[in-house]
Amino acid sequence: MIAQPQVLEVEQLVTVFDTPDGPVRAVDGFDISVGPRETVALVGESGSGKSVTCLSIMGLLPQSGRIHGGAIRFMGENLVQASESRRRELRGSSIAMIFQEPMTSLNPVFRVGMQISETIRAHLGGSAENASKRAVELLDLVGIPEAGRRARNYPHELSGGMRQRVMIAIALACEPKLLIADEPTTALDVTVQAQILELLKDLQSDLGMAVLFVTHDLGVVAGIADRVHVMYAGQGVESGKVLDVYRRPLMPYTEGLLLSIPQLVATGSERRLPTIDGQSPSAGLRAEGCAFLERCRYARDLCREGSVDLEMREDRSVRCRRVDDLVLSGTTS
Ligand SMILES: Nc1ncnc2c1ncn2[C@@H]1O[C@H](COP(=O)(O)OP(=O)(O)OP(=O)(O)O)[C@@H](O)[C@H]1O
Ligand SMILES: [Mg+2]
Repeated sequence: MIAQPQVLEVEQLVTVFDTPDGPVRAVDGFDISVGPRETVALVGESGSGKSVTCLSIMGLLPQSGRIHGGAIRFMGENLVQASESRRRELRGSSIAMIFQEPMTSLNPVFRVGMQISETIRAHLGGSAENASKRAVELLDLVGIPEAGRRARNYPHELSGGMRQRVMIAIALACEPKLLIADEPTTALDVTVQAQILELLKDLQSDLGMAVLFVTHDLGVVAGIADRVHVMYAGQGVESGKVLDVYRRPLMPYTEGLLLSIPQLVATGSERRLPTIDGQSPSAGLRAEGCAFLERCRYARDLCREGSVDLEMREDRSVRCRRVDDLVLSGTTS
């Protein structure tokens, strides 16, 4: 069998911010790939570098940020070397992103149908009439009832869940090959979250996109992703097929994330969810040894020295010195 080329291949990405205290590595040698029709989850707690990874892929880093090293290949083309105009072209046509906060990315003064049809016309051309027809179709596709009427609403007239659906419609307007969804459900309540996740899953299988799905919650990953990458302090610490990682995590940090997912089956007794104590080290302030050291209940002296490499184990990767002598608990639900 000939291996299919990846839609996205990020290799040894290093993204740096210039700060008053000097340059800070928010992403520090990170690898991730997404194949055709595949959904890959990127998981990690706040500040681990997930959004900076997405913005690096999109070419949308703020002024103070820059890609310092590594490669970002989209269908084989290295975007790190691409011109700004080429980046812009790809953003409109082939790579789309849904952002964490839907309200900030919609323009409050234009009707939502218009915002979708303008995206269509800017990237695909065509008449205004066809674009507004397509906008209504897209609103319908993302599950907005009475799409024709809703297209005439302004963003503030819609609920948070509906606004996020509009954002998804805008992202899909140009039929992207790669969709990056950065915590698309974080700002929404739990029932709406579930609906949006279901919607993304359906769209992914109908439209055959590759999806990079970002979340801090390993609980949502099981239903939607094929593979998962766990990020900690700007680096990859574990990756593999979702089921394998769930059944048997190899890195203590992943075990901690799994233990903090509420179990679906009631255990009969009141149980407080364990959390991972402490905070991840700030970008740039990483000491010798494993970055998770201070928070790891399995840490030993051997974890204190040098830098810990990411090791490949068949189709998994793990960054832990104790990988061969630990048996960590997974989850069965
Ligand atoms: N504009 C910026 N200037 C300086 N540092 C930044 C900037 N944006 C992000 N960072 C730093 O980069 C690191 C990663 O941030 P990032 O936003 O990628 O985290 P995240 O994993 O997306 O977290 P969250 O789950 O809260 O969205 C953080 O330590 C953050 O302080
Ligand atoms: Mg983020």
